[in-house]
Amino acid sequence: MKTLEKYKPIGVFDSGIGGLTVVKKLASCLPNESIVYFGDTARVPYGSKSNFTVIEYSMEDARFLINKDVKLIVVACNTASSIALSALQNNFDIPIIGMIEAGSRRALEKTRSGKIGIIGTSATINSKAYSKEILKIDNKIKVFEKACPLFVPLTEEGWLDHKATYLIAEEYLKELRELNIDTLVLGCTHYPVLIRVVKEIIGNDVELIDSGSAASYVVEKYLQEKNLKNDTKNEGTYEYYVSDISPNFKEIAERFLDRKIDELKKIDLDILTKLK
Ligand code: DGL
Repeated sequence: MKTLEKYKPIGVFDSGIGGLTVVKKLASCLPNESIVYFGDTARVPYGSKSNFTVIEYSMEDARFLINKDVKLIVVACNTASSIALSALQNNFDIPIIGMIEAGSRRALEKTRSGKIGIIGTSATINSKAYSKEILKIDNKIKVFEKACPLFVPLTEEGWLDHKATYLIAEEYLKELRELNIDTLVLGCTHYPVLIRVVKEIIGNDVELIDSGSAASYVVEKYLQEKNLKNDTKNEGTYEYYVSDISPNFKEIAERFLDRKIDELKKIDLDILTKLK
């Protein structure tokens, strides 16, 4: 029997495991939805790659999820959302939701001074995707962007409370602090894990925006409006696929997700890149 559209899972992809912070938010917002996750761990990071490569990889990631018969795709990766979202939406019929619009709108709701900071990977910041989105909605806002590339390896290393992390965060964030921003968008999958460090350096009075959390509400609203929300009372199920499994993968993944992962399935790049 054909599965009704609303009972199909949501597909989520990321360049690696960082997107599990977004799955965590989706799961708390939409507990009855099932999720198929794909993390391109063999080719991570996307944040230091060219636009051409990020688009090519993102297309393959999305195709993989479409082959898993998902009803909607969430691009958890901010880098892919910044660079590849329109290419994905133009190429596939399925609804595809990224991080940038949701994070930008949430920041605009929160700011009082009209000074918003954005942090993300080099590719996200170079793309100016957040600035463009925010200024499209309100051109009087002042947006200040700063790439924080070392935050990704620091979180993967588990240095969440390490003095080196505080030193690096101070170096990255001091400029934004001096600019008196009142809202800061965590424009990268990994940064919610560093929220304590960022808060301490930037100051408690700056509102931190988790783009994954903002996007989860957008997904919920979309499913509701399109009558695609899973209305069963059962808890959703989760399937995790990656393109490479490193020795400490499970430990890091569970730290990002904040729950246990029962089974992890590996997809060879050979298969991924040949999917139709
Ligand atoms: N997932 C990426 C992002 O949110 C961070 C890791 C990477 O550079 O691929 O931008």
